[in-house]
Amino acid sequence: MQATINGISIAYHDQGMGLPIVFLHAFPLNRTMWAQQEAALSSQCRVITIDLRGHGESDAPLWRYTLDQAADDVRALLDHLAIQQALFVGLSMGGYILFAFYRKYSDRVKGMVLADTRAQADTTEGKEGRFQLAQVAYKQGPSAIADLMIPKLLSPATIQGRPEIVQRVRMMIEGNQISGIAGDLMAMAERPDSVPFLKQITCPTQIIVGDLDQATPPADAKLMADQIPHAKLALIPNAAHLANMEQPEMFSAIVGEFASNVARS
Ligand code: MLT
Repeated sequence: MQATINGISIAYHDQGMGLPIVFLHAFPLNRTMWAQQEAALSSQCRVITIDLRGHGESDAPLWRYTLDQAADDVRALLDHLAIQQALFVGLSMGGYILFAFYRKYSDRVKGMVLADTRAQADTTEGKEGRFQLAQVAYKQGPSAIADLMIPKLLSPATIQGRPEIVQRVRMMIEGNQISGIAGDLMAMAERPDSVPFLKQITCPTQIIVGDLDQATPPADAKLMADQIPHAKLALIPNAAHLANMEQPEMFSAIVGEFASNVARS
């Protein structure tokens, strides 16, 4: 499915009925990273997965990207689908976008799942790393980005023993355009520190993290759980950064239970 959103074409998938759950993917992937959650949850909820601007089958314009712009795209897609309020699941960059979305449009958020993400802004070294990664993308293309990113996204056991997951991740990364990769790197480097904002989050919040996540480790998840009022924290064993792909059943079960609780409240 495609919609014209803020002047560009945005691809999304909308399946099921009931409480809408909007899934926001990680960098530099696309909406198909949520395939197992879509299959597990669309009998219970209305599941919407989006290719964020710059990724997958959405347009990747050559221009300035910001997380606020991504949040505006999500809001415009909700308007297009006539959805007033939804539950949101954001993994890593999807979580950064969720912070931006909540800052601007908290009345549209019924609850949120912050998965394998962090509230802190980039350090100076982190920003420099993003600049270097954008140069790799520009000079060597997306497959060089896949080579560098896969060891950060997946656990060593997955990389050695589950080639189908590695292949899916590689295909998602290689399917991106350079404009989208570089644009998101700039957007993430410029994001504000959300730590002071955590105490102002009043919607039901579930935090999830893979116990082997080194990109956004469990300590970052604990910080969010300590600061967001009434937030719950779930640790997924034997999963790294892409916990939803490495342990899909457990990830979907946590989201499903959270959605049932939110729907009842
Ligand atoms: C992601 O998975 O979205 C990225 O690892 C986030 C980041 O680079 O900070």
